[in-house]
Amino acid sequence: MKILGINGSQRKEGNSYFLLKSALGGARGEDDSLIETELLQLADFEIKPCDAHYSGLHKFENWGCGKKPYKCILKDDFEKVFQKMIEADGIILIAPLCYPVPAKLVALMERLMAIVYFAKKADKNYVWSLTGKPFGAIATSYEDSTVLVLKILRKFGFIARMYLVREAKNKVFSVDAKGGVEKNPKSLEEAKKLGSLVARTLIKRKERAKKKGGGQK
Ligand SMILES: Cc1cc2nc3c(=O)[nH]c(=O)nc-3n(C[C@H](O)[C@H](O)[C@H](O)COP(=O)(O)O)c2cc1C
Repeated sequence: MKILGINGSQRKEGNSYFLLKSALGGARGEDDSLIETELLQLADFEIKPCDAHYSGLHKFENWGCGKKPYKCILKDDFEKVFQKMIEADGIILIAPLCYPVPAKLVALMERLMAIVYFAKKADKNYVWSLTGKPFGAIATSYEDSTVLVLKILRKFGFIARMYLVREAKNKVFSVDAKGGVEKNPKSLEEAKKLGSLVARTLIKRKERAKKKGGGQK
C-alpha cells in the first residue's frame, strides 16, 4: 500500500519537507513490508488556477470538469499530480502558513474541487477516485497560529471525500507544527504519529477485508 506525501510549500527543503519526511518515516515504521511512501513536491509541478466560470444559477457545461470524461482542459501538470493521488492508498498533505496557504496548493485544491463537484452534478454515476482514502494534514508557520491552515486542509480532505484519520475517541488527528521544526522539534514526533496513524488505518482495513475474505483494502 502506498502513502503519498504532498509538500505544498514552494521551499523544497524547508520545515514542511522535514515534517513530511518524518510523517512518511512513521508510516513505513508501522510495517515497511506493507507500506511504501512517496514524497511529492508541488514546487516541481506547474499548476495553473482553475479557469471555470460558474454562478450557481447557470448550467455548467463549457469546461472539462462538467462534461465527459470529466477531465480538466488546462494544459499543465495538474493531471500528473491527480494521478499520483489516485494511485495512492493514503495521502498526507502539508502546508505552511502563507496567508493563507501557497497559491499553487490553492490551485490544486480548486481544480480537484471543480472536478468532484461538477462531474457529480453532470453525472450522478461519476466515480470520484479519492473517496475514502485515509487523509492526514500538517500545518506549519514561523510564529503565528496554524489554525487557519489546518482548517483549510481538513476542509479540503472532507470535500474531496477522503477519510480524515482519527485517534482515540474518534477525534480527527492533524499536526500543528507552529514555529517550524527548529523552534518546535516536538512537531516532528507529532508528524511521525500522523504517518503511523495513516498507515495503521490502511493496515486495519486490509486485515478487516482479509477476515471478510474480500479484496485488497
Ligand atoms: C508569503 C509568505 C507568508 C508568510 N506568512 C506568515 C505569517 O503570516 N505568519 C507566520 O508565522 N509565518 C509566515 N510565513 C512563514 C512560513 O509559514 C514558515 O516559515 C514556514 O515554516 C515555512 O515552511 P517551509 O519551510 O516549508 O516553506 C510566511 C511565509 C511566506 C513565504
